[in-house]
Amino acid sequence: QVENGLRPKQLENYIGQDKVKEKLKIFIEAATARKEALDHVLLYGPPGLGKTTLSNIIANEMNVNIRITSGPAIERPGDLAAILTNLSENDVLFIDEIHRLNRSVEEILYPAMEDFALDIIIGKGPSARSIRLDLCKFTLIGATTRAGLLTSPLRDRFGVICKLDLYNIEQLTSIVKRSAHILNVDIEVEGAVEIASRSRGTPRIANRLLKRVRDYAEVRANGKITETVAKQALTLLEIDELGLDSVDKKVIEIIIENFNGGPVGIDTLAASTGEEKNTIEDVYEPYLLQIGFMNRTPRGRVVTDKAYKHFNIPYKKE
Ligand code: ADE
Repeated sequence: QVENGLRPKQLENYIGQDKVKEKLKIFIEAATARKEALDHVLLYGPPGLGKTTLSNIIANEMNVNIRITSGPAIERPGDLAAILTNLSENDVLFIDEIHRLNRSVEEILYPAMEDFALDIIIGKGPSARSIRLDLCKFTLIGATTRAGLLTSPLRDRFGVICKLDLYNIEQLTSIVKRSAHILNVDIEVEGAVEIASRSRGTPRIANRLLKRVRDYAEVRANGKITETVAKQALTLLEIDELGLDSVDKKVIEIIIENFNGGPVGIDTLAASTGEEKNTIEDVYEPYLLQIGFMNRTPRGRVVTDKAYKHFNIPYKKE
């Protein structure tokens, strides 16, 4: 992966998510002192906030190997059994998009998480029997966008559950400055703030924009990212001052134009915009909520007057 060099390897170099870091630091220290595997960890939150990065850090801090896979990649129970039997003592198994595991695979995971055992069924019908195979102790780290997407038996088997939040502009500015330093790019603090402000609370987006602004600075300027250079580059990329794109705009406009500003239910909103319900909930909505363009009420989503102003739509609520 391209952004590998930008990913911090130690917890102390990981910016933001202070509560999560504090908890993990304690649990890692305790497990290490007891020479045990860390309890299973569930990380949830919008995409691009560093769930994979954090998992790599955990394995690194625990001084164990990490095996990385994803829910959709594990098609059959045998695939998971092969992975589990190849882990060494206290290793980390990272399963991204863990809510997408199919049911038969998920059922293998229950005894593996709870008793570090695999139950294998041999034969069929009345003569079928089950044998139990012991596994090494391991730490499962599961990542998902919303904890509510997991079945409750799976969710209940995680001893540590951490929610990752969107980053604020100050934290993203620190990330941009750190990444610029690693990439050997000259950047003024105002340039870093400009990139941070348009990154939708998301480090992955901030690092991507930094690379594109660097390209622009090298070709159209002297290579230095100033506020002006950053603004020009991001305007060329059609990213507005708040990092909103055409889908954000469409979601807001449809709530205003078709539903008089809301409230509107998520299913209706998905149908009217033609966007996936999950994409709206996981990608668009969290940021629109963070910047105060949308609110969630028991009757559905409503648009705020801040959004009317930003998109220059006259406010006409009766
Ligand atoms: N790169 C991506 N996410 C990061 C974070 N949270 N801290 C530092 N660098 C990062």
